Amino acid sequence: MDGPSQDLRVEPRRHGKGRLAAFWLAEQSARFLGGRAFYRRRHLSPGRLRLRREVLPVAGLALELEGFCVVQLSDFHGGNLLSAGSLTHAVELANRERPDLAVLTGDYITHHWRQALDLLDELSGLRARLGVYAVFGNHDYRGRCERRIAEAYAQRGIRFLCNESLRFPAGAGAVALVGVEDLEEARAADVSAARAALQPGDVELVLCHNPRAAPRLARAGVAAILCGHTHGTQVDLPWLRRLGPAHPGARVQLGPTRVITSRGLGVVGLPWRHGAPAEVVALRLSREVPGPGAGEAGGVACTAA
Ligand SMILES: [Fe+2]
Ligand SMILES: [Fe+2]
Repeated sequence: MDGPSQDLRVEPRRHGKGRLAAFWLAEQSARFLGGRAFYRRRHLSPGRLRLRREVLPVAGLALELEGFCVVQLSDFHGGNLLSAGSLTHAVELANRERPDLAVLTGDYITHHWRQALDLLDELSGLRARLGVYAVFGNHDYRGRCERRIAEAYAQRGIRFLCNESLRFPAGAGAVALVGVEDLEEARAADVSAARAALQPGDVELVLCHNPRAAPRLARAGVAAILCGHTHGTQVDLPWLRRLGPAHPGARVQLGPTRVITSRGLGVVGLPWRHGAPAEVVALRLSREVPGPGAGEAGGVACTAA
C-alpha cells in the first residue's frame, strides 16, 4: 500500500563507552546496596505501579471492535536494577484488563542480551486473547544479538514484529498491528515493508520504540502509535531531565493519530524515578467520537493499582 521503501532511520544518539560504563558501575553499586529490591518496592509494587487507561475514539470503528483492549509494557532494562521477580505486579495489572493484545515496546536490556532472558518467566505470563507481540528498542541491538532475544521470546510465546504487521479481522473491521524497528539502531526501519500487508479500512496500531518516529508514521487510519524510550524523562527535574532522550509528552494527538509514549517500567543508571512514575498502559478503542468543541479527543484515567 505504501509504494517505495520508506526507511525511518536517523543518526543514533549513542551512549559513549564511558557513559555506559558509568551507568553499569552506578547500577552495580546500587544493586549491591539493595537497589533492585528498593526499586521494585518503590515503583513496581501494588499501590505504587501506575495503570494508565486510555480511551481512543475511532471514527467508523466496527461494532465488533468496540472496547478492543491493548495493554502496553515498555522499557524494562533487565539487569542490575530489574530482573526476575520485578514484573510480577505489572503482569498482574495487565492481565486484569483482559486485553485482546499485549504489546512490549522495547529496551529489554541495557548492557547484555542475556539480561532479557531474566524477564521471560514473568513476561510469558501475559495473557491476551490474540497474543503477545513486541518490537526492539535501541538498547536491544547491543552486540547485534537481537535475534537471540527474539528466538528466546518466541519459544515462550512472544513474537517480535520486525518491520512487519499482523491483521486481526473482527466482523466488519480489522485491527492491524504494525511493528517498526528502532530508527536509531536497527539495520532498517522500513515502514513500507511493515505496512505491506495492510488493507484499506484497517485500524492501524503502530509499535515503534522511539517517539521521534511518530510524525513520520502518523496518518489517516493510524489510530495510535505506541512508543517508549523516554522513561518520561525518568528523573523529571530541570538539571537531570536533559540526560535522557526528550519526552514529547505521555499522550500527544498528531491529527488523526494518538501518540502514546509509555513512561516504561525500568530505569537506567540509578533506581530512581521522580515525576515519571513507572506504568502499564491499557488502551481501549471506542466508537464514541466526541463532537466539535468537546475538547481533546478521548479520555485518560490513571490510578496507582
Ligand atoms: Fe529505555
Ligand atoms: Fe530506548
